[in-house]
Amino acid sequence: MRGLWFLATIGLVVAEDGLNGWLRYARLPCDVVKQAKVPATIVALNATESSPVYTAGQELQKGIRGILGKALDVTHETSEGPSIVVGTLDTFNGSSATPELEEDGFWLNTKGDTVEIIGQNERGALYGAFEYLSMLAQANFTEVAYATNPSAAIRWVNQWDNMDGTIERGYAGLSIFFKNNATVSNTTRIEQYARLLASIRVNGIVINNVNANPIILSDENMAGLGKIADAMRPWGVKLGISLNFASPQTFGGLASFDPLDETVIAWWNSTTDKLYEHVPDLAGFLVKANSEGQPGPITYNRTLSDGANMFAKAVKPHGGIVMFRAFVYDYQNLNESNWKDDRANAAVDFFRELDDKFDDNVVVQVKYGPIDFQVREPTSPLFAHLKQTASAIELQVAQEYLGQQCHLVYLPPLWKTVLNFDLRVDGEKSVVGTDILSGKRFDKKGLTGYAAVVNVGQNTTWLGSHLAMSNLYAYGRLAWDPTDDEVAILEDWTRLTFGLDDTVRETITRMSMESWPAYENYTGNLGIQTLTDITGPHYGPNPQSMDNNPWGQWTRADADSIGMDRTVSNGTGYAGQYPAEVAALYEDIETTPEELLLWFHHVPYTHVLKSGKTVIQHFYDAHYAGAETAATFPRQWAKLQGLMDQQRFEETAFRLTYQAGHAIVWRDSIAQFYHNVSGIADAQDRVGNHPWRIEAEAMDLDGYKVTGVTPFEVASGLRIAQTVDNSSAASASATLRFPAGTYDVAVAYYDLYEGKASYELLLNGARVGAWVGDNEDKLGFTLTRGIDGHSATRVTFPGVAIAEGDVLRVETKPDGRETAPLDYVAVLPPGVVD
Ligand code: GCU
Repeated sequence: MRGLWFLATIGLVVAEDGLNGWLRYARLPCDVVKQAKVPATIVALNATESSPVYTAGQELQKGIRGILGKALDVTHETSEGPSIVVGTLDTFNGSSATPELEEDGFWLNTKGDTVEIIGQNERGALYGAFEYLSMLAQANFTEVAYATNPSAAIRWVNQWDNMDGTIERGYAGLSIFFKNNATVSNTTRIEQYARLLASIRVNGIVINNVNANPIILSDENMAGLGKIADAMRPWGVKLGISLNFASPQTFGGLASFDPLDETVIAWWNSTTDKLYEHVPDLAGFLVKANSEGQPGPITYNRTLSDGANMFAKAVKPHGGIVMFRAFVYDYQNLNESNWKDDRANAAVDFFRELDDKFDDNVVVQVKYGPIDFQVREPTSPLFAHLKQTASAIELQVAQEYLGQQCHLVYLPPLWKTVLNFDLRVDGEKSVVGTDILSGKRFDKKGLTGYAAVVNVGQNTTWLGSHLAMSNLYAYGRLAWDPTDDEVAILEDWTRLTFGLDDTVRETITRMSMESWPAYENYTGNLGIQTLTDITGPHYGPNPQSMDNNPWGQWTRADADSIGMDRTVSNGTGYAGQYPAEVAALYEDIETTPEELLLWFHHVPYTHVLKSGKTVIQHFYDAHYAGAETAATFPRQWAKLQGLMDQQRFEETAFRLTYQAGHAIVWRDSIAQFYHNVSGIADAQDRVGNHPWRIEAEAMDLDGYKVTGVTPFEVASGLRIAQTVDNSSAASASATLRFPAGTYDVAVAYYDLYEGKASYELLLNGARVGAWVGDNEDKLGFTLTRGIDGHSATRVTFPGVAIAEGDVLRVETKPDGRETAPLDYVAVLPPGVVD
């Protein structure tokens, strides 16, 4: 008993599973607690349990109990004596001068005896309570008095949850909202999610996939939506849903879904009315139409605005809005043999002429770039064309093209390239975040803002990775204030998530800030996009999949040259979609920022960059540099052992080690691929030259056969070994010819799902280590069934003493689809990343 009690009091050793995210309210050290002056009672100026002000009172009580170990009472009437008062402006009759507050804004005053937390509305009051708790949790006891207001009214998240409980592009398990084509009955996780969202001031959530299933409109599901909305209401998070445009026909049994057909309009009106009976404060609808095979108004030769307005009119009497997605393109009619074809042109082509055609409660939701959440894209030019229509930006916290939460990639620096971009509309300052999304530039205040595709799942970490949660946290912060500093945000998040230790904060901040540049380096640089498998899971390397198909994410790489010519003078004309000053910048190769060179220009591999390097040499160097940075992550992380709980330490260590290995897979694949197409050697002779590796195909094989892989470049030496069948044990061995010393030994193999092959690494017959091909369990989602760039992985055993002539042997046992595929063994001297 005593031992257990002792353990429980030491926060560091208690396992943490991530469920509380950044709202852990971990106890501050005693000496720090002593410095905190906190009033003895909480007055929450609303006694109704579903009210966010009531929630704020409960949350303050819970938070202060956790952080400071003080038990405070909550009352609902103003009392004499010092207290923490939380309420709305109209219920508060305290001492402060009335602050200037806009919708959802709040006033926080910790000066004097009484802490005042005053919201413009109930939601704002709750936000203020979270702000105060965030300060306390970070041991920030400075006296403050300030008002803060949101940069934009719309601060939503989107979930791409399917009704069957799977999640499109979800990397953390099944849905917390749906199961078996119905809404879930247990709303615990939904409430916990709403709490996290409220704490970052997100005020709306669309819970089902944009590729929507009409069954969400069944009577049973409408009732279920009502329950979900009830669960989130105390947190001030409003519910929205995605609609399938063809629902009147496929679900309602009508002959058509023509948006101008009276029966269709009547069907949507009555369906909407019914929805509002269940969810009286439904935020609105999200609609993906005529894109990637989804039905839409164009099917009936109607315009996208005809479609959007039909929904807008249905929700208007209820105060709802329609988020209409600008992600519209026709993948069936894009043809790479036409030099002028360009998917990037689609959004502006579709929406430009419609700018004055949308009803005033339609918001066009625009992905940050013109293609699809790539590692780098220029700002969508559509923001410059929506002058009479409200717009919202669509970001993606789910790292679909950015490592799917198996790679650490802190996204705000990427988002900021867009949020800080000045589109110079009509020659005037038009910064995306502060001018356009704020609604100021085009006078749309109140109806502009942010949406982020998040895709949390049932995994207790929410996103599959502890560190990935900084992206969700930062998203909320930036939607509130796009000028907020990405490093400061990260530091707050780190203190809240892992405590106040300086080493922890510095390490996580440094790694996170290095992560996006590194990822860009090892996946696709100079604006060529994430060179992933675009017809597959969008995860590992597969550069050739980008071209020769109608998806339009082309690189136009051939034997001599690469890049999309998007100039007006000679290319697809996309550069001309920007306002004049920006268009001129991108039209000219000299003024195009080099990080977007290949986005806008088609150049020979030998084109010389400002650094003096050729494009191809830059490719090689960047990929090597990126993998080199990723290799430091597990080493940096290892220093944090003992400075946090073991569970999160180990789970993160696993992912960072995996990332370091997969970054080498990326590096080698891309370098090998372009080396092969261009025939141009790496000036440093690294590509295809691995002095510290022993290729599996060159080992003494027993029960193994040598094969190729698809795509060819994801195998070192272009060959691998797989067991001859999927049941017999096999082995691969080699006599080492390296000088005696201490090495890290890495084994590169392929980890498929639907199979768990086992492996043992032996040195002169003694075990160095053993492992199982179970990344599907550890990484939390199913990567691939194939031997390819997604399944390629490696395991490393550090500090192995080796003498010349030693025999290294891998013994394996295949399982299921996993034929224990081996690529190579690397025997790495200190400092060598290969
Ligand atoms: C991407 C993604 C799809 C998604 C689509 C969208 O293409 O891969 O899964 O449906 O975007 O945003 O609609």
